[in-house]
Amino acid sequence: PIIGRVKVVEVGPRDGLQNEKNLVPTPVKINLINMLSETGLQVIEATSFVSPKWVPQMADHTEVLQGIRKSPGISYPVLTPNLRGFQAAVAAGAKEVSIFGAASELFTQKNINCSIEESLERFEEVMRAAKEASIPVRGYVSCVLGCPYEGKISAAKVAEVSKKMYSMGCYEISLGDTIGVGTPGSMREMLAAVMKEVPVGALAVHCHDTYGQALANILVALQMGVSVVDASVAGLGGCPYAQGASGNVATEDLVYMLNGLGIHTGVDLQKLMDTGTFICNALNRKTNSKVSQASCRL
Ligand code: HMG
Ligand code: MG
Repeated sequence: PIIGRVKVVEVGPRDGLQNEKNLVPTPVKINLINMLSETGLQVIEATSFVSPKWVPQMADHTEVLQGIRKSPGISYPVLTPNLRGFQAAVAAGAKEVSIFGAASELFTQKNINCSIEESLERFEEVMRAAKEASIPVRGYVSCVLGCPYEGKISAAKVAEVSKKMYSMGCYEISLGDTIGVGTPGSMREMLAAVMKEVPVGALAVHCHDTYGQALANILVALQMGVSVVDASVAGLGGCPYAQGASGNVATEDLVYMLNGLGIHTGVDLQKLMDTGTFICNALNRKTNSKVSQASCRL
């Protein structure tokens, strides 16, 4: 039996923009988030408090977080790789943060410049500070269905890292198919392993659509009881440390599918599509959302 309600986590302003080569003007980012806030989304990941040398696009994190109109009832989490990022985020007014690890040793090295073991130590520091400040922390695990540097990743390794991050106190673990290589088959196998260690109610899936499998993979996750799904408006996105990976599943396409399944999201598809049009015009590119591309309207 499929669940009745899904929480959509919009990652467009962060995952969607972090990979853009040209610096997106801060007012465009603020506008994007303000428009998303009007669509009915409950969670909008706003930016990253990472090193501007590593990801120049996110260097305006403080201006973005302070410039947006924060609607009551909407959460605006930000990425924080270490204590320094956490402190800067809180100083800028963040009320929720995300730490991001991976099930791949080499990806962890390339993405955050340390081993998995070291990353978990850094996360412990963030968790302690967050607990003290009563700030909820979400945990990402990347490369859950494959790694651009190591290739195949075992479901057991994903389960192990997920369990560690959950045990640390993350309220939710978002399982990232960073390079979009997963299939419904590998998704099912991986989730079955992770669900033995982390309650399904605390799991989210984060599917990039590089191989066109994202919606199918998400459907499998829903059938297995997952009720939190990450997506990016207009299907923007990628990871600077995973070359060739394309964007996340488009939020418009996800909401269209969920509507069709009779699953409640609270998101207004038309307003979402208008927001997609806004950001695509600003970036001067075509949308990756199939629903927005479609010219036949029902
Ligand atoms: P490092 O070089 O090992 O860190 O980077 P360090 O401690 O040696 O510091 C180096 C410099 O960075 C120093 O400055 C620090 O002060 C500064 P310098 O003395 O050279 O002038 N620094 C910072 N500055 C701002 N904010 C901070 C911060 N920390 C140190 N928080 C570090 C380590 C983690 C900082 C770096 O590797 C980094 O920023 N990585 C971020 C990579 C990233 O953002 N990747 C994309 C997000 S992950 C993703 O997209 C996947 C996901 O979507 C899920 C999925 O799809 O699977 C989440
Ligand atoms: Mg991602």
